Amino acid sequence: KKFVVLISGNGSNLQAIIDSQKSANASGQICGVICNKADAYGLVRAKKAGIPTFVFSRKDYESNLAMDFAIAEQIEKLGAELIVLAGYMKILTPEFTQRFEGRILNIHPSLLPKYPGLNTYQRAIEAGDSEHGTTIHFVNEEVDAGAIVLQAKVPIYPNDEVEDVVARVVEQEHQYYPLVVEWFCSGRLLAENGKAYLDGKE
Ligand code: GRF
Repeated sequence: KKFVVLISGNGSNLQAIIDSQKSANASGQICGVICNKADAYGLVRAKKAGIPTFVFSRKDYESNLAMDFAIAEQIEKLGAELIVLAGYMKILTPEFTQRFEGRILNIHPSLLPKYPGLNTYQRAIEAGDSEHGTTIHFVNEEVDAGAIVLQAKVPIYPNDEVEDVVARVVEQEHQYYPLVVEWFCSGRLLAENGKAYLDGKE
């Protein structure tokens, strides 16, 4: 299956997915990287890997709806069957998420339903939590709320700063996001009626 990756920034998760494709018999193939920031470092990563890149800037469109429509048309033109959000920092319109229902994955740095939205690390540390983590989930029209595929936990130690916890969480993300993409592309993972199924089991 072909898939696109949507990014806004550094693209370290994109890099992990690119690297995982080098291993033999990956079921998926990245057919494009779509970005809403022209200066994102992730675009450099994509170009280095020879992946076509497409930049969509909000200022070039009269509405979010118009921008998301243009992105959706590009995705269909590429023939992508899966949309992988990897640090895409713009909320997608319901028109977009409904058009690709069950075919959008996101990775969010918290143990959802805890801490949807921004600054999750700071919020977890300030709350005195002893663990944090990352969630890979299908995307619906509600932000950070679709069916959960996988969560990975890491400890928070008493004197941790944000960057200590970030380092632990991103290591998990880079390990698991490529795996989940492969599950989807090989047909093992699917979403139905708002639930995620791996090998037919919820
Ligand atoms: C990741 O930590 C992910 O959880 C969040 O945004 C971050 C993106 O990092 N959604 P990168 O651009 O993949 O390095």
